Amino acid sequence: MKVAGRHYRTIWPHEDGHSVEIIDQRWLPHEFRVVTLKTVEDVATAIRDMWVRGAPLIGVTAAYGIAIAMHADPSEASLDKARTLLNATRPTAVNLRWALDVMRDHLHPLAPENRAKAAYEKAAQIADEDVALNSSIGRNGLAVVREIAARKKPGEPVNILTHCNAGWLATVDYGTATAPIYMAMEAGIKVHVYVDETRPRNQGAQLTAWELNEHGVPHTLIVDNAGGHLMQHGAVDMVIVGTDRTTADGDVCNKIGTYLKALAAHDNRVPFYVALPSPTIDWTVRDGIREIPIEERNGDEVSFVQGRNEKGDISLVRISPEASPSANPAFDVTPARLVTGLITERGIAEASAAGLKAMFPERS
Ligand code: MRU
Repeated sequence: MKVAGRHYRTIWPHEDGHSVEIIDQRWLPHEFRVVTLKTVEDVATAIRDMWVRGAPLIGVTAAYGIAIAMHADPSEASLDKARTLLNATRPTAVNLRWALDVMRDHLHPLAPENRAKAAYEKAAQIADEDVALNSSIGRNGLAVVREIAARKKPGEPVNILTHCNAGWLATVDYGTATAPIYMAMEAGIKVHVYVDETRPRNQGAQLTAWELNEHGVPHTLIVDNAGGHLMQHGAVDMVIVGTDRTTADGDVCNKIGTYLKALAAHDNRVPFYVALPSPTIDWTVRDGIREIPIEERNGDEVSFVQGRNEKGDISLVRISPEASPSANPAFDVTPARLVTGLITERGIAEASAAGLKAMFPERS
């Protein structure tokens, strides 16, 4: 995607041949900053503290973390230590574990002296594959947007509601939920996006809105609680969200608040789609509510809000009494029965064990 006319991915190798550069998402939309990650500890901090975030990008960043660890010390012990460190950074997005497993399986059989080069090549391959997966998701999702557009009155946009940031910034390029939106724009279909602000970290207000602006996509920022009202009044034609982990039975874990949007969509017969690359499917779990670990983040993310003050400084302000404790579950699970379809790189699957098996027969 382009930022001020220049094409960027969210992560790329540094010219020194071993570090990686990332867009440090903590400062958006106010400042566009690029930082260099030099050690596996830097990479762990960047994932844990959400300098990078979004399930696919977390996976790719972890893969580069392994490569950096192999550059420093290619021993078996170093590989194990790096995997353990990175795996503990964020518990819900399954792409993290997936990428670490792919890296281990690739590097383990190699002699230590060959591991660093192989690790950078494999991480780059995972990054390129992410871009290809998202572009296929975009093409498959475009068919749904096109179908809805055909039913609209001439000149009326397709109104799409999205939650959190499942855009370019959450992946390497294109995004998952945003890929069909960008492709619809390219195809000349009029779209308009309702962007949930997504408390507590405001990924919608700070990241999705920024991305859509950079790309010239018409959009409106709304508070998280507005979605149900808009759906009741026919203002939303479809919902598209991303996911951090989808089970073999089609339950969808995504940013906290997604479930409430799915309930409102179901009650108002608004189609609710989830866009996901296959590495986000956890074939080892079936019941999302009982089996997916939900990350509990620091309550300060609820009690404080970050913004730019009138002096132009980016700062945190407290919005609740100091004495009030806060709870901060970061994700929730939307049961498969509330999901209209799973937009994957292979096509649109029914959110069920049978639907996923039919789309990915090699997994049965
Ligand atoms: O806590 P975050 O910002 O990492 O959560 C991100 C999301 O919930 C996204 O919707 C999900 O990772 C899908 S990204 C394509």
